[in-house]
Amino acid sequence: MAGHGFNHSPKNVPFVETEFRRIATALPVPESLPLLERLYATESHAMHGQLPVVWDRAEGFQVFDAWGNFWIDFTSTIFVANAGHANPRILAALRHVLDKPLLHTYTFATQERVDYIDALIRNTPQQFEKAFLLSAGTEATECALKLMRLHGQSVGKRRGGILCFEGNWHGRTMGAQMLGWNPKQKEWVGYLDPNIFHLPFPYPWRTEAQDNPASYFRKYLQQLLDEQQLDPKKDFCGVMMETFQGWGAVFYPPEFVQAVVEFAREHDMLVAFDEMQAGFGRTGKLFGYMHYDVEPDLLCCGKGASSGLPLALVLGSQKIMDLPDIGSMSSTHSANPLVCAAGKANLEALLEDGLIDNAAELGEVFHLGLQRIRERFPAQISSTQGKGLLAAVLFNDPLGRSLSGLCDRIAESCMQRGLLVVHTGRESIKLAPPLCIHKAALIEGLSVFEQAIADCVAEGVL
Ligand SMILES: Cc1ncc(COP(=O)(O)O)c(C=O)c1O
Repeated sequence: MAGHGFNHSPKNVPFVETEFRRIATALPVPESLPLLERLYATESHAMHGQLPVVWDRAEGFQVFDAWGNFWIDFTSTIFVANAGHANPRILAALRHVLDKPLLHTYTFATQERVDYIDALIRNTPQQFEKAFLLSAGTEATECALKLMRLHGQSVGKRRGGILCFEGNWHGRTMGAQMLGWNPKQKEWVGYLDPNIFHLPFPYPWRTEAQDNPASYFRKYLQQLLDEQQLDPKKDFCGVMMETFQGWGAVFYPPEFVQAVVEFAREHDMLVAFDEMQAGFGRTGKLFGYMHYDVEPDLLCCGKGASSGLPLALVLGSQKIMDLPDIGSMSSTHSANPLVCAAGKANLEALLEDGLIDNAAELGEVFHLGLQRIRERFPAQISSTQGKGLLAAVLFNDPLGRSLSGLCDRIAESCMQRGLLVVHTGRESIKLAPPLCIHKAALIEGLSVFEQAIADCVAEGVL
C-alpha cells in the first residue's frame, strides 16, 4: 500500500490484556486497511507516514480502535491532549455551546470569548495583558514575527532583525519556516529572509556551550555582528526561542537564556517564546519558559491550549498587542466560541484538577525510569532529555551515528504491544502522556517501551 512509512501487512502479534492495554487482533487490523487505502488515495501524502492505527475513541490517557484494541497513549496526539483526551470539563463546555446552538461568530463578541480571554489574562504573568486567538500554532509564531517587526518600526529601528536558533522549529507557513532552522524545509521558498539570523544552539553534547553557556551565546553573537556589520540597537527588534528544541526535548542551560534575554533588554528587542509543545503544564509548570527564570514579552501557544480543538494564541502587553491597526490582525476562525469554551475548560482542568502538579510529580518517576532504560542500552541510547511529562530518548550508536531505523522499529513494536509513542522520523522517540495519567499506567508504559527496545536490539535492528 502506498503513502506510508510503516509496514501495512497485518501481523499476528501476541495477545495483550491488562487494565490499561488490549491488543486482540492482527496489526494493522485487517478491517482497517480499506479505510487507510481510501485515505492514502484521496489525501495528500504529506499528511501520512504515521503508525497504522485507526482511532475510534480516545479518553483520558487511552486510545481505542473500533476492533477492541486499546493503547496507553504516550503521544497526547503530539502534545495536545494535556488535560486528557475528551476531558469531561471540556466536553461539558462544548455541549453547552452546541446546545445553544452557537457555532461561529467571526469577530462578533461572545460570552465565551470574553470569559476565555479574561481567564487567560488572570492566570498568566502580569506582562500578558492582551491575547490574540488563532487556529494553528504556525499562525501564532507568524503573528509574533509581525509584532516584533511592528515594534521595531515603532521605535525607529532601521532593520527588522530577528535572532533565532539553529535546530529550532516554528511551523510550516512561510514566516514560521524562516524563523525555524531546517534549511531543507524552506528550499521551496526560494530565498531566505535577510533579517532573520540563526545562532548555534547550546546542545548538552557541546562542551563549550555547557562549560559557559552565557559566553557561548555572546561569542557567536559577536561573530554574527562582525560578519554582517550589524548594530543590535538599530538592526534587531526581537528574538524567537523555541522553549526547548522539539525533536529531542532539548532545553537550553538557564544561563544561556538569561544572557539572551539580557541582551534583548539592552537593545530594545522583544523576547518571544514558542511554547507550542512546552505550554499548558506539559513540563510541570504552566509554561516551559518558567524553568529559565526569565519573563518574555510575547508567548506563542497552541496544541495543549485546548487539549483538542484548533486553538492557538499569542499573549503580550497591551502596547505591543495593539500595534497592528484594527482589522489587520484577525482570522476567520479566530476565537470561535466552541474553541474558546474548550480553552477555558482546559485551563480550569489544568489549574484546578492538579494536572500540572501531576506532571511535575510523575515527571520525576518518568525521567528516573528513562534514565534506568538508558543505562541498560548504552550502545543505542545516547541520552534522554525533557522535563515533566515530556521526554525524548535519543538513539545514537557509540560513534554518534543516528539510529533512526531502530526508532521506527521501536515505535512499531510499542504499537503492537499497546503503547503509542511519538515517532519523529529521526534519531529520537518522544514520550508525552496526557497529564492525567496514573502512576501505574505510566510505569506500565515505560516497561512496555523498555521491552520493545530490548526485543528490537536483540533482533539486531539498526
Ligand atoms: C515548536 C512548534 N512551533 C510551531 C508549531 C506549529 O504548530 P501547528 O502545527 O499547530 O501550526 C509546532 C507544531 O508541531 C511546534 O512543535
